[in-house]
Amino acid sequence: MQMAYPMNSISPAERLAQARTQFPGLKDMIYFETSARGLLPQGALDAAMHFYEAMAHGQAKEDGGVYRADEQARGLLARMIGAVTDEVTLTRNVTEGLNMIVAALPWQRGDNAIVCRAIEHPNGVYSLYNMRDRHGIEVRIAEPTADLAMPVDTVTQLMDARTRLVVMSSVTFATGARTELARIGRICRERGIILLVDGAQSVGALDLDVHAAQVDALAVGASKYLCGPYGLGFLFVRRALAEQLQPAYLGRFSVDLGDAHEGVQGSDRYTLMPGARRFDLGSANYPAANAISFSLELLQSVGVSVIEPHVLGLALRLDAGLRELGVPLISGTVEAHRTHLVVAGWKNPPPEGAQLITDLSRHFTNQRMRASERLGRLRFSFHLYNTADEVDQVLEAVRQWPRLKALASLKP
Ligand SMILES: Cc1ncc(COP(=O)(O)O)c(C=O)c1O
Repeated sequence: MQMAYPMNSISPAERLAQARTQFPGLKDMIYFETSARGLLPQGALDAAMHFYEAMAHGQAKEDGGVYRADEQARGLLARMIGAVTDEVTLTRNVTEGLNMIVAALPWQRGDNAIVCRAIEHPNGVYSLYNMRDRHGIEVRIAEPTADLAMPVDTVTQLMDARTRLVVMSSVTFATGARTELARIGRICRERGIILLVDGAQSVGALDLDVHAAQVDALAVGASKYLCGPYGLGFLFVRRALAEQLQPAYLGRFSVDLGDAHEGVQGSDRYTLMPGARRFDLGSANYPAANAISFSLELLQSVGVSVIEPHVLGLALRLDAGLRELGVPLISGTVEAHRTHLVVAGWKNPPPEGAQLITDLSRHFTNQRMRASERLGRLRFSFHLYNTADEVDQVLEAVRQWPRLKALASLKP
């Protein structure tokens, strides 16, 4: 990636400002919608186009750099989460990553898995129901905490000798609450239960060391906080766990045949690739891998350790401003659960509430401001490219909104 000067020689604020210039989408829009999809930097778009150009002109040879981007992306993602390259495989999206682990476990009838259905993304929940229907496992449902965060204590109470798996998002898409990942990680590890994390709403914005948090597997997609395209994701699998697993799908790249060409057959007795590489299947999404390599380098040139306090600070500023204006917030009531997401609305939206939220969302859209409407609530989310000035402009837009009084006086 070509930067004007090495990012680590300049201050965090300058790094963020420099990175912001890479996002053409910000020229005429305030974008607080990364939780739905992130913005693609120009360099990522160029890198994908470079691949397509090469392909159009018959120049994407197997030994060409455009094909090596998947390996580069794997390494960059591994570094971002404190893993090693062999612990990461490329996927299509979060759903595929979660299913790869769930379907590779040696389920026995009567085993159980625990999930907090009310605030977990449906993708994670259905992967478990599939195992219930195929292998006779029990899916145990934990209710969320009072502030709608992941309930570590309730999940722990539901564990028993037949519990094999806990599925949990690092940050729930529903309310933006942060999960006490290290605590559930420790509990699961002590009991030999696998912790499978959906990192869609945090990886790229919030710091995570998967080994320090004792996460066994982590699925993430490229299209939100990694600022990449759709159709690409990553799955981290702790090496020692991966090496106990037999993937549900197997292909030539899952099998270790040394340096032999991919067309070489090998024998009917095979050795699986080390670590998460045994989950590798056929050709990768090379255009997307080229794009995400640029984006991951950009994020790392700023540093997630710089991005995290930046986005938390912006969320706090918006939270305080909205509260002052009387906007009901579902996020931010428990300090430990605060994140880079601010969610306006109610636990149980009153009948007129959903209409007001839609109206506010439309008001933003008319002013080229973007937040995402989810489950009758309005979700604001921050990434490295957002600024305090944008927060102030959004707050001013709320102040000017004709129905603010109606929203502020609504009782759930
Ligand atoms: C927590 C969470 N998991 C998963 C997804 C999406 O999964 P996928 O990448 O499979 O579409 C989303 C957002 O759409 C999400 O917020």
